[in-house]
Amino acid sequence: MPTENRPVTIPDFAAWKTEGRKISVLTAYEFSIARLLDDAGIDCLLVGDSMGTAVQGHDTTLGVTLDQIAYHSEMVARAAKRALVVADLPFLSYQVSRRQAIRSGGRILKETRCQAVKLEGGARMASTIRSLVDAEIPVMGHVGLTPQSVRRFGGYKVQRQADAIRADAQAVADSGAFAIVLECVPAELAATITAEIPIPTIGIGAGAACDGQVLVLHDMLGLLDDFRPRFARRYAELGDVIRNAAARYVKDVESGDFPTEGESFR
Ligand code: KIV
Repeated sequence: MPTENRPVTIPDFAAWKTEGRKISVLTAYEFSIARLLDDAGIDCLLVGDSMGTAVQGHDTTLGVTLDQIAYHSEMVARAAKRALVVADLPFLSYQVSRRQAIRSGGRILKETRCQAVKLEGGARMASTIRSLVDAEIPVMGHVGLTPQSVRRFGGYKVQRQADAIRADAQAVADSGAFAIVLECVPAELAATITAEIPIPTIGIGAGAACDGQVLVLHDMLGLLDDFRPRFARRYAELGDVIRNAAARYVKDVESGDFPTEGESFR
C-alpha cells in the first residue's frame, strides 16, 4: 500500500533511499501544529531538542531534559496519523552509559507513540547506537554540527573535517541506525556520504544531494526575527502575521470594538 494511505514505518526509509524518493522532515513540539504538519504530508516529525532554542528561548539545547522531550513527544506522536515521529535524546540522557541510553530511549517508546529516537555523535556513539538497536529501539543518528557539542566546537560552525565526518557517518550506519542527520557540512561532502552509506541521509544545511531534508519549524515559518540561518528557507512570515493579529486585537480591545453583541451572550 502506498505510504500516502498508511502510517510511515521505519522500513519505508530504506525503501525510499533505494527508490530515490526524497524524505521530508520537520521539527514539531506540540499537538495542534503537529496535526497540521501531518495533514500537509510531512513524512517524519522530529521532536527536536531544538525546543531549547526555538520554544524555550535559550541560546543552546543543553538544558533540555528527558522529561520535557517525553512531554512534547507524547503530544506530537498523538497528533500524527501518518508521519513517523522521532524523539531527540537530550544532552546527558544517553552519553553516561549504554544502560542509561537504553533506559532513556526505552522510556520514550514506552510513554509515547514515537517510533524512534535520535542521538548525536558518530564513531564515539557507535556502541551506544548498537545497544539501543539491539534493545529494539530504532535510532536516527546525527553527525556534522552536533549542537550538544557547542561548547567543544566554540559555537555553531560549518563542520569541514571530511574524513572524520565520513567515518562518523559510516560508524552510525554500521551500528544499525535507520537514518542519519547531516547538519551543516559542505554539500559535496554530504553527497559523498549519501552515496557511500546504505541508510538515508537527512540534511540540514548539507545541500541537495541528501536523501531527505529537515528544517526547524520556527526557522521555516519565520517565527524568530533575529535568527535567519542561510540554509533555512522561510516558507512563511508567521512572526509578522502573529504580531499584526495581536496588534489589531489590542486596538479593538482599547477602542471597545471587541467584543460585539454577536460575540457576547444574552
Ligand atoms: O533538535 C533538532 O531540531 C535537530 C534538527 C535540527 C535536526 O536536531
